[in-house]
Order: sequence, then C-alpha cells, then structure tokens
Amino acid sequence: MSGPEKTQQDGAAHKKDDSAGVFAMSLFAAGISVYVSLFVGWLVLPELLYSRQHQPIDFNHAIHMEIVDGCTSCHVFREDGTFAGTPTLDQCIDCHEEVQSIEPEPGDEDYEARMAQYLDEVKFVEEYVQQDKEVPWLIYSKQPDCVFFSHAAHMTSHKFKVLEDGKIGAPPVEFEPGEEPEDARCNMCHMAFIDGEAVPFGEAETLPLYRRNWITTYPIDIWGRNISGFNDHYYDSAKMDDCAQCHYDQRNDHQGQDACFVCHK
Ligand code: HEC
Ligand code: HEC
Ligand code: HEC
Ligand code: HEC
Ligand code: HEC
Repeated sequence: MSGPEKTQQDGAAHKKDDSAGVFAMSLFAAGISVYVSLFVGWLVLPELLYSRQHQPIDFNHAIHMEIVDGCTSCHVFREDGTFAGTPTLDQCIDCHEEVQSIEPEPGDEDYEARMAQYLDEVKFVEEYVQQDKEVPWLIYSKQPDCVFFSHAAHMTSHKFKVLEDGKIGAPPVEFEPGEEPEDARCNMCHMAFIDGEAVPFGEAETLPLYRRNWITTYPIDIWGRNISGFNDHYYDSAKMDDCAQCHYDQRNDHQGQDACFVCHK
C-alpha cells in the first residue's frame, strides 16, 4: 500500500524548482488518488470480475419447504447412497403436471411478487414439464472435474461437526441422538447469497444470481466474495484450502493434511 505512494513522493522530491507548497499539494493529491483508486478497486473490481446470470426459472425454496418433506425429497440420496444433487423433473412432476398457483388479480396483496412466481411456474410447466425437458440449472458449487467430493461421506460421518452459527472456530452444536435437523450440515457448506446476505437455502424465496469469475472461470461460491481471502464460515468459499481447513479441523483432528488422492480423481 505504501509502495506507489513512496514512488510518487520520490519523483516529486527530485524536481528542483518545486516550491514547498506545490510539493505538499501534489503529495496530498497523490496520496488521495492512491486511496481513491484502492477504494474504487475494492468495490468495483469484484463486480467487474464476475458475470451475472439469472437461473432459467426462479425457484422459491421457502414455499416448497412448507409443502414437501425435507431437503432430500428433492435433493435425493439414491438407493446406493450416492447423492443425485440437482433435482430432475421426476422430483417435480407429481405436483406440476398442471400449474398449481392461482393467477393473482391486480390489487391483490404482494401482486407483483406473486405474479412473478406465477409466471415462473407457467414457464416451468409449459417449457419444461410439458416438453419433457430438464431445466438447465446453473450450479453455484460446481467443482472442476478433477475434484472428488462425496455428499454421503459428509452427511453420515460422526466426525462432521455442525458449529454454532456455522462459524469457523465456534464450538460444535450438541444435538440429541436423531435430533439433528436435516439441513444443519447442508448449511455449513451452502448458503444462498441474496443481496449480499447469506440466507439458508431452505428459507430462500428466490435463487441467487449465478456469478462466474471471467478469469478463473470459478463460480463466486467457490472462489469467495471477500477479496482479502479471509473467511468466517466454511460456506464463504470452497477452494482447495477451504476443504483442507475443515479436514484439518474435523476429519483429521488437527493432525496433518490429507493425501492429494483423497480429493482428486
Ligand atoms: C421442492 C424441491 C426442493 C426442495 C424441497 C429443496 N430444494 Fe434445494 N433446490 C431445488 C431446485 C429446483 C434448485 C435449483 C437447481 C440447482 O441450483 O441445483 C435447488 C438448489 C439448491 C442448492 C444450490 C446448489 C448449487 O450449487 O447450485 C442448494 C445448496 C440447495 N438447493 C439446498 C437445499 C436445502 C438445504 C434444502 C432443504 C432445506 C433444499 N434445497 C430443499 C429444489 C429443492
Ligand atoms: C409436493 C408438491 C410439489 C413438488 C414436489 C414441487 N412443487 Fe413446485 N410448487 C408447488 C405448489 C403447491 C406451488 C404453488 C405455491 C403457491 O403459489 O403458493 C409451487 C410453485 C412452484 C413454482 C412457482 C413459485 C416459485 O418457486 O418461484 C415453481 C417455479 C416451482 N414450483 C417449481 C418446482 C420444481 C422445479 C420442482 C421440482 C424440483 C417442484 N416445484 C416440486 C408444489 C410442488
Ligand atoms: C465443514 C467441514 C468440511 C468441509 C468444508 C469439507 N469437508 Fe470433506 N470431510 C469432512 C469430514 C468431517 C470428513 C470425514 C469423514 C470421515 O472420515 O468419517 C470428510 C471427508 C471427506 C472425504 C473422504 C470421504 C471418504 O470416503 O472417506 C472427501 C473425498 C472429502 N471430504 C472431500 C472434500 C472436498 C473436496 C471438500 C471441499 C470442496 C470438502 N471435503 C470440504 C468435513 C468437511
Ligand atoms: C462438506 C460440505 C457440503 C455439505 C455438508 C453439503 N454439500 Fe452440497 N455440495 C458441496 C460441494 C463441494 C459440491 C460440489 C460438488 C462437485 O461439483 O463435485 C456440492 C454440490 C451440491 C449441489 C449441486 C449438485 C450438482 O448437481 O452438481 C446441490 C444441489 C447440493 N450440493 C445440495 C446439498 C444439500 C441439500 C445438502 C444437505 C443435505 C448438501 N449439499 C450438503 C458441499 C457440501
Ligand atoms: C481436501 C481436499 C483436497 C486435497 C487434499 C487436495 N486438493 Fe487439490 N483441489 C481441491 C479442490 C476443491 C480444488 C478446486 C478448487 C481450487 O482450485 O482451489 C483443487 C484444485 C487443485 C488443482 C487445480 C486444478 C485446476 O483445475 O485448476 C491442482 C493442480 C491441485 N488441486 C493439486 C493438488 C495436489 C498436488 C494435492 C496434494 C498435495 C491436492 N491438490 C490435494 C481439493 C483438494
């Protein structure tokens, strides 16, 4: 941070005919411009580095969580224990052969929000369900192909600890046997970032914007939002070091690192 400032100062000091006043002024201006550009860079650069895409249709987790039986009714674990991940039409078709919502009338409470949802469902039913076409969802947490990750291992392990407020370093939450909520573990690794707030997926009324880094091509949910790189939560990013940090804390009980082939194919 002091680098560019110092160069400016040295440059100015070498000019013989500078009066003290002009020198002080230019020093001041140089200082300000360094800070202004740092500040602008801090705010604007992260915006420019990422593409912004909406999902093909929006999906409201909160209203579905009131009518279905838990996360895994859509995010299914198959018979063999492997995780199917993104839901396919099979998980939706029982309810969405026809449009479920009632078209709102102008003047209804929350008219615009309800209209947007209604149109999402019409689009879903007409363009996907009735055409028997899967929705091309954008995956926030998609890892490169060389990475091996198993949901089953994380969902069933007794070593995996859910931490208070999901914070790194916080004490683990003690659950009575069989009382751990189904989404407690999901929320350690996944949060919906909506207008800058981290919302548990089960409570989210909309899907987040999908944002991908132009240079690294990683989605922001893997690369992280904080350009200082410091995380308060495991869900803040999912780079190699983030996986390794939780593995050091939990899987290996503060003993050493995993071999490369644990997480790589
Ligand atoms: C009625 C079906 C349904 C239920 C129930 C449901 N989801 Fe989802 N979920 C979806 C759909 C549809 C998407 C959008 C597709 C996608 O991004 O994978 C999604 C996306 C997600 C994603 C984003 C994955 C990614 O990286 O793109 C996470 C995380 C998630 N859901 C977690 C949960 C959790 C946690 C629960 C329970 C609290 C839950 N979901 C319940 C249908 C459902
Ligand atoms: C158990 C029945 C049920 C299942 C399963 C279900 N839905 Fe729905 N869905 C509903 C109902 C009921 C509504 C209307 C809610 C309202 O208007 O209050 C709705 C609304 C919607 C809407 C419009 C509101 C919104 O979310 O933006 C979309 C889109 C939608 N569903 C997509 C899906 C998808 C995709 C799946 C499968 C992954 C799915 N639904 C599975 C019952 C279901
Ligand atoms: C919040 C903590 C946490 C995070 C984050 C995490 N893991 Fe894990 N992981 C665990 C724990 C705990 C185990 C130990 C399972 C056991 O040995 O019972 C584990 C085990 C594994 C295993 C071994 C499965 C097996 O069959 O033994 C793989 C592979 C793995 N993790 C990959 C990853 C990758 C890749 C990431 C990052 C994208 C990651 N993990 C992020 C906690 C975490
Ligand atoms: C230890 C961290 C961790 C936990 C716990 C976890 N996930 Fe994931 N999830 C990941 C990672 C990492 C990926 C990306 C995997 C990849 O691309 O290979 C992922 C991917 C997903 C996807 C997208 C899958 C696809 O189609 O590519 C969905 C949906 C999802 N998770 C939902 C859930 C739900 C629901 C839960 C709880 C039942 C959960 N996750 C628990 C780390 C986790
Ligand atoms: C705890 C899990 C874990 C372990 C152990 C691990 N990696 Fe990774 N590695 C990842 C994840 C997740 C990514 C993708 C995210 C990233 O680039 O940080 C990755 C990315 C990489 C990449 C970049 C791949 C690309 O497509 O750009 C290389 C190279 C790599 N790892 C090598 C290694 C080597 C060598 C070791 C052993 C010394 C190792 N990894 C151990 C999880 C792990």
